[in-house]
Amino acid sequence: MTDLTFGWFLPTSGDSTCLGDPASRIPQSLEMFDEVVAAVDNGGYKYLLMPVNATCWEATVVASYYVARTKNVAPLVALRSAYCNPSLSAKMFATLDQMSGGRLCINLIAGISDDDTLADGILDSKQVRYEKMEEEVSIMKRLWTSDTPIGFEGKHYNVNQVIEPKPLQQPHPPFFLGGGSEQALDISAKHSTVHLFWGDRPAEIAVKIKDMRKRAAAYGREGALNFGMRLQIICAESEGEAWEEAQRLIAGATRFNLINNRDGLNAIEGIRRTSEANQRVWQLLDESGDDMKIHPHLWTGISTVRAGAGIAVVGTPKQIADTLDEFVEAGCTSFCLSGYPHAKAARLFTDKVMPLFKGRLADTLPTAA
Ligand SMILES: Cc1cc2nc3c(=O)[nH]c(=O)nc-3n(C[C@H](O)[C@H](O)[C@H](O)COP(=O)(O)O)c2cc1C
Repeated sequence: MTDLTFGWFLPTSGDSTCLGDPASRIPQSLEMFDEVVAAVDNGGYKYLLMPVNATCWEATVVASYYVARTKNVAPLVALRSAYCNPSLSAKMFATLDQMSGGRLCINLIAGISDDDTLADGILDSKQVRYEKMEEEVSIMKRLWTSDTPIGFEGKHYNVNQVIEPKPLQQPHPPFFLGGGSEQALDISAKHSTVHLFWGDRPAEIAVKIKDMRKRAAAYGREGALNFGMRLQIICAESEGEAWEEAQRLIAGATRFNLINNRDGLNAIEGIRRTSEANQRVWQLLDESGDDMKIHPHLWTGISTVRAGAGIAVVGTPKQIADTLDEFVEAGCTSFCLSGYPHAKAARLFTDKVMPLFKGRLADTLPTAA
């Protein structure tokens, strides 16, 4: 039977108990993170996603802090291309992999909005950021495995270094990648250990996985690429309670009332222009009708209040497990999850849903090949 891995999300830009009500926001604090990390580290999860954007606490720094304070879980550190010199990234991640005893995963992303990266002083278009991503990953992989200067000459980087330390995980820590454009899919096929999808109907994911397997096969990597879903979880003892909780979570919100986005509608338009993955998420919201469902237990309501991971699995533990199993049928083996508030939702998933996957959980992180 398939070995599955579960991961959770660390809300380093803040948490909430009701997304429609700005007063319910839980600000970032070490205390809040500690509670989430404890729930995840003791809860059977294999990795903890640490996002990046202007409002998040810095992901690699947060990861370094928590590898020293956890025993089980691996940080899945988001790395935005074009932000960091690749030789430095290779060194930082190899060091972190050594210091964590081989607990590190890297999430490759190009950035959800051109406006946001521009505001940071990064002048590259998304296309160039993806070109740089491809070179950055190639450079890191070579620096991690070479004992002689690598002589890398690319369009954007020339690197001729040999570095220590090398990562503990061999040949290197797993790369995850989240993105929906042609460039994202090509880089993921070539380099990823896990390609991550935001929520969609299982039948759509099956089609996307078939396509990704073909792309990976063109690089001789068909068996090396795994697939994961980035989903929200809204779980309760009865289905009625779960739907009530879903409605309560966005009570007070109107469509595209994105409380977590400082620039409101302008930011939304920037994300809509830049991110094909996000265009699909909001297309699903538009198609979903009044009940905001796209499938019996898949709900787009959270996409009214945030970008990105706005699709939730809603129901009883059994209904949630069955829906996740539809994604397993489609070819997924990993689930990167979250719920509001994050610590409580992580504990609930551990207690009520994970036992339904007994005997099917992997002992280790997905391994790079
Ligand atoms: C699972 C997943 C996680 C992501 N995490 C982040 C993130 O932490 N920060 C960010 O700026 N963008 C994040 N993104 C968005 C990516 O930056 C992605 O590159 C963006 O959608 C633009 O590229 P695309 O047109 O290829 O989809 C994520 C995307 C996915 C699918």
